[in-house]
Amino acid sequence: MPNDHSARQYHVDAAKYQEMYAASVADPEAFWAEQGKRIDWIKPYSQVKDVSFAPGDIHIKWYHDGTLNVSANCIDRHLETRGDQTAIIWEPDDPEEPAQHISYRELHANTCKMANVLTDLGVTKGDRVVIYLPMIPEAAYAMLACARIGAIHSIVFAGFSPDALGARVNGCDAKVVITADEAPRGGRKTALKSNADAALAQCKDSVKCLVVKRTGGETSWNDGRDHDYTALAKDAADSFDPVEVGAEDPLFILYTSGSTGQPKGVVHCSGGYLVYAAMTHEITFDYHDGDIYWCTADVGWVTGHSYIVYGPLANGGTTLMFEGVPTYPDASRFWQVCEKHKVNQFYTAPTAIRALMGQGPEFVEKCDLSDLRLLGTVGEPINPEAWNWYNEVVGKGNCPIVDTWWQTETGGHMMTPLPGAHELKPGAAQQPFFGIEPKVLDPQTGEEITGNGVEGVLVIADSWPGQMRTVWGDHERFEKTYFSDYKGYYFSGDGCRRDEDGDYWITGRVDDVINVSGHRMGTAEVESALVAHPKVAEAAVVGYPHSIKGQGIYCYVTLMSGDAPTDALRKELRDWVRQEIGPIASPDLIQWAPGLPKTRSGKIMRRILRKIAENDYGALGDTSTLADPSVVDDLIDNRMNRD
Ligand code: WT7
Repeated sequence: MPNDHSARQYHVDAAKYQEMYAASVADPEAFWAEQGKRIDWIKPYSQVKDVSFAPGDIHIKWYHDGTLNVSANCIDRHLETRGDQTAIIWEPDDPEEPAQHISYRELHANTCKMANVLTDLGVTKGDRVVIYLPMIPEAAYAMLACARIGAIHSIVFAGFSPDALGARVNGCDAKVVITADEAPRGGRKTALKSNADAALAQCKDSVKCLVVKRTGGETSWNDGRDHDYTALAKDAADSFDPVEVGAEDPLFILYTSGSTGQPKGVVHCSGGYLVYAAMTHEITFDYHDGDIYWCTADVGWVTGHSYIVYGPLANGGTTLMFEGVPTYPDASRFWQVCEKHKVNQFYTAPTAIRALMGQGPEFVEKCDLSDLRLLGTVGEPINPEAWNWYNEVVGKGNCPIVDTWWQTETGGHMMTPLPGAHELKPGAAQQPFFGIEPKVLDPQTGEEITGNGVEGVLVIADSWPGQMRTVWGDHERFEKTYFSDYKGYYFSGDGCRRDEDGDYWITGRVDDVINVSGHRMGTAEVESALVAHPKVAEAAVVGYPHSIKGQGIYCYVTLMSGDAPTDALRKELRDWVRQEIGPIASPDLIQWAPGLPKTRSGKIMRRILRKIAENDYGALGDTSTLADPSVVDDLIDNRMNRD
């Protein structure tokens, strides 16, 4: 009988949610003092919370006089009771290649080896290490080894270009970049080491490169700079004493796109982040001892940090790490992996669900999914059609779906239905997690909108332990981005609706950030890549509805006079952006724009460009303030999105 979980005891039921939530916001200090005990401290904390969202004095500290080591929490403390239990199941890109089951004991040895190799390269507490790796176990060893040393890792998704990698290495002034020869993905190989070579050409000579052997493919070698991890690890000692760090010492930096300028380095610290990642992992996914849990994200995104590595391992769980893609060798890969490893909790992005839904149910139906107990989604709103398919075809109507709303900045889940506690509504993030106080504000006045059946911008009234602490090297930007539009609140950048029952629905970004296949993209970044091309005079980028990606990238491009607008040039610009940022930023549609709609003061009116891209040009609104209203007619006549 598939998926019969009627006898299941959830960690939290409806009554317990009410009671715990009320307690968490009535007395956050007491609530989080208790939750802090989820992890092991070297020196216990005496103060739980020291937070101010006040203009000019933004500071966020949790458990700040406590000390700990994150890697000891994720590994060492489990050795006595579950040393032989599998910590990580690694499933390679090619289904013919054997999977690996890495026990906590093996995870300990491998992490220590990595820590010794990094130490020999000169890495010490507080140093930055950039990780640019495929989804292989060494990525987890590298993260945990940094945590063991007290060094700060910054993972760069392996799909990012050399330029993007170089900018991040320089941005955090990293001492070492860890990469691999090649990254296999979907049957193809990305030449990671040669990307790293190109990136390092833009960095200080002192930056070292540690190379993991994944495929054994040819790479160039720079003696003195490059170090062969696979050879060094053989001889490295398999023990390393965890370094004591303060709760507020940074654990990692993760670059993410904003509405303006270059990506910013989101800083997460050791104590509060780990407490929050562990708690949300256990409760949202209803994780119980012995469960096999799989999050399909890449460790290059925050989802991979909190819900492949730190949360599950802090809880002594078994976490599956998958190197491949949902559609290789065919569209049943996800479900075959679920069957093969008897996955109990499965967490993925709506874009993957939509892509697989389009392939038909037979790819799911031929697999035995009877161990699945809970399904999750993250990264973008899920449309009811995809939700229903996920529920019926994958979950057989018997697995609760947690639609988790959160952000790189929040460290962990902020709003989500909890299995066993909430009546599910397809497409809604529903209710706040413990300690989270969402508010809906009027976007113009900034006044709070109370009551139900309302819509506005989504802010959070008070801190939680997983909150980001600052922007690396730029605390002013931190304050300006998140605390200046609506004083006294953390501003998420999202809009939301609170329905008649008090459930929350995320309506999408209200800033110039777009969400492409669950990946966050600043339109300003794509614009600056485009205008860096010698033939481009001006560019404006907006999102438009895309049936699989959620949003697609729509570019309006004004060429330098004399350059001909050809399809060949379209392709050249597309390749250019891929090279500047990476394939995830690849423009979907490029429209030649003889002029862009601007106000008399020269400001581009994006509202109009968005409407045209959405094919909603009947609703352009007031165009009378435009310097030259006729440019709009030309853009409408030549729009690219005609379905
Ligand atoms: C943005 C954050 C957090 C991990 C992955 C993305 C959107 C995220 C949901 C959801 C509707 C969602 C928001 C948010 N988003 N989850 N369940 N429903 N929208 O992290 O790259 O920092 O992006 O993703 O717009 O602001 P991220």
